Amino acid sequence: MIQGQQPELFKFKTNESQGAVECLGLTFGNDTARRAYFTEKLREKLQDPLFRHVEGFPLGSDEDILALSDPPYYTACPNPFFAEFIKNHAQTYVSENDDYHSTPMTFDLSFGKTDPLYGANSYATKVPHQAIMQAILHYTRPGDVVLDGFAGSGMVGVAAQACAHPSAAFKQTIEEEWNAAGMPAPQWGARRAILNDLSPIAGFLSANYNLPFEVEAFAAEAQRILEETKLELGWMYETLHTDGQTKGQMTYTVWSELFSCPDCGGEIDLFNQALDPKSKRIRDEFVCPHCRAELNRRRLNRSYETCFDPVLAKPIQRLKRRPVLINYVIDRSRLEKLIDEDDLATLHRIETLSPGPRSRHTKCR
Ligand SMILES: C[S@@+](CC[C@H](N)C(=O)[O-])C[C@H]1O[C@@H](n2cnc3c(N)ncnc32)[C@H](O)[C@@H]1O
Repeated sequence: MIQGQQPELFKFKTNESQGAVECLGLTFGNDTARRAYFTEKLREKLQDPLFRHVEGFPLGSDEDILALSDPPYYTACPNPFFAEFIKNHAQTYVSENDDYHSTPMTFDLSFGKTDPLYGANSYATKVPHQAIMQAILHYTRPGDVVLDGFAGSGMVGVAAQACAHPSAAFKQTIEEEWNAAGMPAPQWGARRAILNDLSPIAGFLSANYNLPFEVEAFAAEAQRILEETKLELGWMYETLHTDGQTKGQMTYTVWSELFSCPDCGGEIDLFNQALDPKSKRIRDEFVCPHCRAELNRRRLNRSYETCFDPVLAKPIQRLKRRPVLINYVIDRSRLEKLIDEDDLATLHRIETLSPGPRSRHTKCR
């Protein structure tokens, strides 16, 4: 569970070197001291069997939960500091003072999926934060607390914070659209977010999207990992250009599904037998290369192969397919070639790699 912090989060800076910090009414010499204090509090709480008995409590050791957490802001389990957070950041509800009024938001919300923040994770059901921002701007005021009990990758938290730092283009678009719709101008400024999700990976993503961190240290570490990965795995993405000398960088490989002919049982490779190279679509009718029978896609039988899955450590059945085409780049030029012997040898080398100490190599029949 993540709790919104100070509204300046979106500047992506930690408090690590900033001296004294205040958190939930306590003052600490620095942020490391804050983390150490609340980590101990969380450690004590994890000893409480009733706490661990909460429905949906993650299966994990105390040490793993503590290592993932950054309490009180993020705990990789139900957040025991939640009540304290509310006490510090919310006011007791008094109906006589309640002047909140908001008309229903009646226009459609949509936003493209091209923002780098949206692309930075592959959580299945994520929503672009700019779309959420519009609902938050409409229904809340700066400083309000927004609760998302089903937060997924934490985009509501990103949106709540981004209300303080919209890009100039986004701000202008929203203000113009709202004006045209006869709505009052949005009140920019951060809201605080409480994010919760049943899934530990969702909580982890939300935390990493929403908690501050050292940009330079992150960039340097990311670059180091990229370089190390390239050294170790870069050969998997290399392909020899058709001149037989230059090495290209693969962008993607096209795989063709394999079927069998319903008349003679011969193998049909859809890419080679049925693809129209001009339209790049599968032809409605084509001929079996073995018995010359007239075929169409509906008449074909699927082919399967049995493989040993080294991760599951058991045999699995999968659709038969074959790599046929490689798209690659040399000096910014996009090129295409049919798969060759070298590429097949690379794929074979990859297949025989072991993903873990316990696993055996992939074998198919
Ligand atoms: C549609 S997704 C939310 C996606 C999110 N808006 C985003 O941008 O990433 C719904 C989430 O609800 C979570 N969920 C389902 N049942 C839940 C429960 N009982 N308590 C908490 N979270 C739950 C799922 O794990 C999932 O992450």
